[in-house]
Amino acid sequence: MAKDFSTLEDSNRSSNPSIHDVMAESRRRFLKSGVAVSLASVLAPLAGCAALGTAQPKLGFKGIAVGMGDRLVVPEGYVATPLAPWGEPVGIAGNMPAFKIDGSNTADEQAVQMGMHHDGLAYFALDGSRRGLIAINHEYTDDGLLHVGGFNAMNAEKVRKSQNAHGLSVIEVELQNQQWQMVRPSRYARRLPMSAPFSVGGPAAGHPLMRTAADPQGRTVLGTLNNCASSKTPWGTYLSGEENFAFYFGGADQPTPDQSRWGARKDGFYAWEKHDARFNLKQNPNEFHRFGWVVELDPMDPTSTPIKRTALGRAAHEGAWVGVTRDGRAVVYSGEDARFEYIYKFVSRDKIAPAGNGLTQAQANRELLDHGTLYVARFDADGRGQWLPLVHGQGPLTAANGFADQGEVVIKARQASDLLGGTKMDRPEWLTIDPASGWVYCTLTNNSQRGEPGKPGVDAANPRANNVMGQIIRWKDEGDFDGRRFEWNHLVLAGDPANERAEAKGNINGDIYACPDGITFDQRGVLWIQTDAHATQMYKGELARVGNNQMLACDPVSGETRRFLTGPTHCEVTGVALTPDGTTMFVSIQHPGETPTDRSDPADPAKYSNWPDYAAGGRPRSSTVAIRKKDGGVIGT
Ligand code: FEO
Ligand code: CA
Ligand code: CA
Repeated sequence: MAKDFSTLEDSNRSSNPSIHDVMAESRRRFLKSGVAVSLASVLAPLAGCAALGTAQPKLGFKGIAVGMGDRLVVPEGYVATPLAPWGEPVGIAGNMPAFKIDGSNTADEQAVQMGMHHDGLAYFALDGSRRGLIAINHEYTDDGLLHVGGFNAMNAEKVRKSQNAHGLSVIEVELQNQQWQMVRPSRYARRLPMSAPFSVGGPAAGHPLMRTAADPQGRTVLGTLNNCASSKTPWGTYLSGEENFAFYFGGADQPTPDQSRWGARKDGFYAWEKHDARFNLKQNPNEFHRFGWVVELDPMDPTSTPIKRTALGRAAHEGAWVGVTRDGRAVVYSGEDARFEYIYKFVSRDKIAPAGNGLTQAQANRELLDHGTLYVARFDADGRGQWLPLVHGQGPLTAANGFADQGEVVIKARQASDLLGGTKMDRPEWLTIDPASGWVYCTLTNNSQRGEPGKPGVDAANPRANNVMGQIIRWKDEGDFDGRRFEWNHLVLAGDPANERAEAKGNINGDIYACPDGITFDQRGVLWIQTDAHATQMYKGELARVGNNQMLACDPVSGETRRFLTGPTHCEVTGVALTPDGTTMFVSIQHPGETPTDRSDPADPAKYSNWPDYAAGGRPRSSTVAIRKKDGGVIGT
């Protein structure tokens, strides 16, 4: 999601160290090493660092130009085909209503159709790289496109349709004649909208702060919200982050300090609280605690109930990504995409179990992510860092400071991290782990408020004031993924060298981009980077030459970066997964035609884009695309 909702992201008022003074410290460090202290040199990339230990992958395609216009472009020799756009029936037998291009599908129809605003996705093989399942997030809705008449005069039915366009989908897909298609009906096809039950696992399960009148046990939540990034676990499940959950709630006329810290609002962005009391903070204050979790889904078992994993902490979670220690434990990294919020990791207590005794590996690890230790990251100015444990009773995380037990620590992970002194970051988005080196990469998409009066200033990890361009940070944990200390540096600071302002130039080695968001390593060690600049930022000012949002390939050793895909007008390029053989890449194109105002005009829905259908009387539709090389080769070679 491109954030233009400024009040959502600046709720961190804590005064942790790591601001102002650390930039000076960073400069001293570079001075000692004999590097000049111009801003550019302080920010010089450390790409090429031998410690990365990564074999240099090859970028074998011809890079493409900056994207303009309402079309999707991939390099010569490649083809990109839309797959499963918003409104397509997912394939539930006997219930496959066709999409209506005027937006007139009912709420019930939407509940069995692809949701809106495709985001993170993952591929689960049924037959290698020829047939499989795609699990996918539907992050949010544009109610101007979703309903006939748009957002005006919202009513309970429109709210229900909006809720049914959120959540997750599972679809079956197959490669036929070199083209991916949905398999319908499929016994695996699922929609998990706001009415779908999710179990709660971990220390907040059953906690008094999780109990509501409708769920007095505090162990079953209906739905998942604002699901952004995703990943596949080594045991075969799907992880999805609940990101900006706060703006679905309203009624916080006089918010408590806790509600304020989490960005609770008087008026919800979707007006759900006016038609569904569950989202009214006055009537159901604890419902607010039941979102902001990482959710885990087993897409291979269509009867499985997904689980909210509270041991990983509550946050505006972008997503979650798993590394495996040498002794077989899971380490889950996650970030919180909000201005001045944190990066976390969770180390499982138990080892990943093998399949057996009649259980798939997913089923054998059903409680793996419920037990372990959660940490928040502190990036120090000397290129080192520490993981600080969020453990009840340790340090300041005591009852006297408002944490009755571990359940309250994870529910109030932001406040716990404030007290521990985690580093306040420039909107952590996706993470990915270099399988060859074990370095963990994280996009910090932007933070235009960095350095504003009354806001945190620059620090070593977030080194630019008015950071409209974003950066990619990376770290290596000491010893193994469970290490309590780490070393870190920046892969790159995004930007355009033609800009006048030093903070907007960046240091990209290759094709320019801004606002990195989605990121993943492929099997060859190529780092794929996707971007998410908001429509209000595009084609002007410091982003004038960056064009439409895009995807690039980067050699993480040399830093060489080459543009691979440009999306249609105002879209975000997000979500990426490859088949096991690397010959198909699935990418989500989200919100083509995004309006610079809050919602599209229902009287002119195709004002900015009509991708991918370009149908008369139609409207833009978020969609996955399947990208193939025409010669059937590996993507990127
Ligand atoms: Fe949903 Fe952080 O982008
Ligand atoms: Ca994102
Ligand atoms: Ca984003």
